[in-house]
Amino acid sequence: MNYPRFLEQIHADIGPWLEKGRVADYIPELANVPLKTFGMAIVTMAGDVFRVGDADYRFSIQSISKLFACAMAFGLVGDSLWLRVGREPSGTAFNSLVQLESENGKPRNPFINAGALVVSDILCRRFVSAENAFVEFMRRLSGDKTIDYDLRVAESELRHSHRNYAMAHFMASFGNMNMPVEVVINAYSRQCAVAMSCVELAKAALFLGNQGIVPSTGERVIDETSAKRLSALMLTCGTYDAVGDFVYRVGLPAKSGVGGGIVAVLPGEMAACVWSPGLDNYGNSLAGVVALERLTTLTGRSLF
Ligand code: DON
Repeated sequence: MNYPRFLEQIHADIGPWLEKGRVADYIPELANVPLKTFGMAIVTMAGDVFRVGDADYRFSIQSISKLFACAMAFGLVGDSLWLRVGREPSGTAFNSLVQLESENGKPRNPFINAGALVVSDILCRRFVSAENAFVEFMRRLSGDKTIDYDLRVAESELRHSHRNYAMAHFMASFGNMNMPVEVVINAYSRQCAVAMSCVELAKAALFLGNQGIVPSTGERVIDETSAKRLSALMLTCGTYDAVGDFVYRVGLPAKSGVGGGIVAVLPGEMAACVWSPGLDNYGNSLAGVVALERLTTLTGRSLF
């Protein structure tokens, strides 16, 4: 597979798309990123790394963290996770509160904010510092000990967390929150504020396409069935309420974040991560979706 040529071609063609999106500004610190940046990395199961553009620039992983936090929680509590969080696409915005009332405080899935807060609650219950445990987990998966959260982004997010507080208190009123809301929101905000590059995120996601094992170290992260289930969740719930269109165009399980990153996995072959901070109306990187669509078209490789 000539990944270097495909990446060069995508990079050469992506220019016009970089200006069409809007950088997330509801967390002020996220708005400080230049709109016209683009990076993409592919890491194969054999450990080959291919990169283009700003693939080594660390950006805010935001909701991509929900995938890895969910892997941690799923590994800890197994199927009992589904007593507290569903596994259906929401069809509503990632920060929407509407379903929580009619569905008795049980979020639709772990990749919308409400579901991720339940996952954080599980991690806060289990670890003295859930945010540090999360950072450690990301360091292990990507093999880079310098990965950390960006305190300025975390604080900026905390100051603009009214909706997340509302969701967490609302879920607490249904008995679906065990730890103090402040503790959970703090851990969640720091987890979202972790800064990683495309190369690091692609490395970190490889275990999902490798039956739960990190290919470079042989470390088992989760069992084979759980890896399959998490990948299925990425496919059905990983790109907000645009997931149908995303899967139609790209054909890979993926998780996006409002920092402009999208990580995608081709089981048994590779993980890819693209970053471009201009977002579409759903909160997915506009150029990122185009780039992944081009990748699966050029390579002829997707799930289907
Ligand atoms: O909770 C928030 O608003 C963000 N830190 C997470 C944003 C994000 O990427 C959207 N998520 N599903």
